[in-house]
Amino acid sequence: MQVQVLSPVLIAVSLGSMQPWTADAWRSLPARQQPAWPADGQLAEVLAQIAALPPLVTSGEIAELKSQLAAAATGERFLLHGGDCAESFEGCRSSSITNQLKILLQMSLVLTHASRKRVVRVGRFAGQYAKPRSIEVETRGGVSLPTFRGDNINRPEFTQEARTPNPQLLLRGYERSALTLNFIRALVDGGFADLHHPEQWNLDWVVHSPLAAEYKRMVDAIGQGLQFMETLAGVRVHQMQRVDFFTSHECLVLDLEQAQTRQVPRRSGWWNLSTHLPWLGARTGAINEAHVEYLRGIENPIGIKVSSDRTAADLVALCERLNPQRESGRIVLIHRMGAHQIAATLPPLLHAIMRAKVPVLWVCDPMHGNTETVVVQRGEQGAVPVKTRKFAHILAELEQAFEIHAAAGSILGGVHFELTGDNVTECLGGARGLVESDLARAYHSSLDPRLNYEQALEMALLVARRM
Ligand code: PEP
Ligand code: CO
Repeated sequence: MQVQVLSPVLIAVSLGSMQPWTADAWRSLPARQQPAWPADGQLAEVLAQIAALPPLVTSGEIAELKSQLAAAATGERFLLHGGDCAESFEGCRSSSITNQLKILLQMSLVLTHASRKRVVRVGRFAGQYAKPRSIEVETRGGVSLPTFRGDNINRPEFTQEARTPNPQLLLRGYERSALTLNFIRALVDGGFADLHHPEQWNLDWVVHSPLAAEYKRMVDAIGQGLQFMETLAGVRVHQMQRVDFFTSHECLVLDLEQAQTRQVPRRSGWWNLSTHLPWLGARTGAINEAHVEYLRGIENPIGIKVSSDRTAADLVALCERLNPQRESGRIVLIHRMGAHQIAATLPPLLHAIMRAKVPVLWVCDPMHGNTETVVVQRGEQGAVPVKTRKFAHILAELEQAFEIHAAAGSILGGVHFELTGDNVTECLGGARGLVESDLARAYHSSLDPRLNYEQALEMALLVARRM
C-alpha cells in the first residue's frame, strides 16, 4: 500500500491553522502555469542576479497605494486601472509609453472632473510580461511545441528554439520594466503630468476625432477652475500639479516574484518590490495552491480576477485567507462577468462579501467577459479567427455594474480596461464605428483586443456622464 506523505504546509492548511509564512513555502504546493525551464542551472543564476539588483518600486510607494485603494473602497477616490493584456519587449519604446501615459492621464482627468474624486492611476505596465495559457502545447501541421507564455518566458515564433523557456529573458524583462518605470518617473517629474498643460497629452491622430470638442470643453473648464482656485489662494495648485502612477502585473511566475520579495529597513513584513499591485489570476487562484500561499504573506495590496464561475463561498474564503486582519486597501476584487452574465452572477458575490465584512475595493473589468471570436480576411493568410470585443458590450457591462452595486448598497470604486494609446483596430464599435473588416487593418495585440485611444477616451466620457 502506498502511504501519501503530506508536506508540513499541506497539513497546516488542511488543519485550518496557517503556518508562519516564508517567501518560499509556496514551493511545497501545486504551482500552476509555471514554465518548464531547462534543468541546466541557468534559472538559479538568473534569479540570484535579479535578487541582488535594485528593486523597481519602494515599500513607501506600495504603502501609499494601499491607503489610496482604501479610500477608493469607501468611495472617496476612484481607481483607473489600465494597460496592455500582455506587454511585449518590442513595445518598450518611448512613443508607446508616452501614448499609454497620455490616454491614462486624459481618462483620469475626465473621471476626476465628472466624479469630483481624486483618481488613483494604476498601469498594467513595467512587468506584465508573462501570461497564463489554457494550453501547454501548441500543434501546427503535426508539430507540437510549448505554447508561447509571454516575452519573459519564450518567444512566439514556432520553432523549438524560440519556444523553449529561456531564463535570460527574465533578466531582459526586469531591465525593460526598469527602463519603462524610469521613463515614466522622469516624465512625471519633468511636468508631463502637470494639470496646467493638458494639451501636452493630445495625440496627433485624434485631432479630428468626433470626441475632441467634448474633451476640449472639459479641459477648458478644468483650466478655468484651476485659475480660479489659484487666484483665490494666490499660489499655484501644487497638489494638483503632480500625479502619481502605480504599476501592476499578474503575479504568475513565482520564482521571479520570490526573487524580488524583500524585507526593508524600518518597515516590518515582506514586500514584493517588482510592482505596487500584483494580481491573482483565475487559473492560479485555488485557495490551497502555491500562488495564494505566496501572496498571503506579502504586504502589497492584491488584485483578484473574479469571473462568473467564482462561487461566493470560495471568494469569501479567499479574501479571508489573503486578508485575515481585514486591513483596508489590501484586497481589490476585479470582476469580469460579461454583459450578459453580470446581472445574475455579481449580486450574490456582493452580498456574501458584505455579510462577511471583509473590506474590499470593487473594480469592474468590462473587457474579459466580453471577448468573442470573429473570422476576418487577412491578406495571404485568408480567413483567420480573431479575438475581439464590442464597445457596446463593454459599456453595457459597466453601466450594469454601477447599477448593481448601487442596488446592493456596495461601492464600485474603480474600472479596469485593456487599452493602448496607439491607433489600433482591435475592438469593434465606438464613435468611429469600427466594423469587422477594420480588424485586419491595425490589429497588433498578441493576445486580447484593446480599446484604442479614441475608444478609451469615449469610454471615459460615457462613464463620466454616468457618474
Ligand atoms: C488578462 O487578465 O489579461 C487575461 C487574459 O486573463 P485570463 O487569461 O486570466 O483570462
Ligand atoms: Co487580457
